[in-house]
Amino acid sequence: MNVLQIKDLSKAYGHIKAVSNLNLNIEAGQIYGILGPNGSGKTTTLGMITGILQSDSGSYTWFENQHQNPLKRIGTILETPNFFPYLNADENLEIVRHIKGAENKNFDEILTSVNLINRRKSKFSSYSLGMKQRLAIAATLVGDPDVLIFDEPTNGLDPQGIADVRKTLTDIAASGRTVILASHILDEVEKICTHVAIIKYGELLATGSVGSILSSDKTVEVAATNEAALENWLRANPKINSVSKDGFFFTCMVQEDFEVEEMSRALGHIQIFPTHLVVKKKKLEEEFLQIISKAN
Ligand SMILES: Nc1ncnc2c1ncn2[C@@H]1O[C@H](COP(=O)(O)OP(=O)(O)OP(=O)(O)O)[C@@H](O)[C@H]1O
Ligand SMILES: [Mg+2]
Repeated sequence: MNVLQIKDLSKAYGHIKAVSNLNLNIEAGQIYGILGPNGSGKTTTLGMITGILQSDSGSYTWFENQHQNPLKRIGTILETPNFFPYLNADENLEIVRHIKGAENKNFDEILTSVNLINRRKSKFSSYSLGMKQRLAIAATLVGDPDVLIFDEPTNGLDPQGIADVRKTLTDIAASGRTVILASHILDEVEKICTHVAIIKYGELLATGSVGSILSSDKTVEVAATNEAALENWLRANPKINSVSKDGFFFTCMVQEDFEVEEMSRALGHIQIFPTHLVVKKKKLEEEFLQIISKAN
């Protein structure tokens, strides 16, 4: 089922185009990362799809329009009320439950999933930053939403806190819910998400499964006059994972330690001289890292 369809969504602040003509499709069960450097329009996008911000143009559709009040089926940290410092986790969640008008008091299950069950009776004011963040995630789970939206949930946490929050998010996703996560950290999206949209300056750069976009193998294109001999050599090479024919050249997915120079030399030894040889390396990842480094 399609959980969220975004069509040509745009918003500008004066002359700054925060989001421009964004198109996205999010399917049930995906952990969808919206990845982009600071100021790329992630928070603005989340604000629009949760009805907090008005868009200038374009549209979005939740759950294929099958629910009258779709926002009731979405949990987001954007709308989390401030917690009361002198109340414990259970008491704070009870207040959240009242605000949301939720029936189910499954706090045991919720606090277990965010790993706060042992500290449920401690006051909020005694929590570490990571624990506070996990209680915020717990609050999004009240009312059993189908979709959870998080904006940079690991910001400001130490490595242990980051690891705990990431584990919590993957556990939540394993329960079958759809998760939408905005992040500027490539590694985080790579570790947690199944799908990703990369944006910069409010524009979509690429979308797809994380495997196809971020971790794509290094590939080599090669052609030679003696095609059959070349193909035999390619298929017999243990550092080449796959070989396919694309027009006049072969496309090979190769391992990280594959050396093109070594290949040229080996082919020369058996009288095969490439007429075409191109190496393509994790293009988007490099491009994304460049964007990030420019932004900082
Ligand atoms: N209320 C506002 N008034 C004016 N400009 C804004 C406002 N909110 C956002 N912007 C601008 O819109 C652009 C996108 O901002 P947004 O907060 O959506 O980016 P982001 O990807 O969430 O960034 P970050 O990683 O820093 O959270 C930025 O150029 C920002 O300065
Ligand atoms: Mg933001």
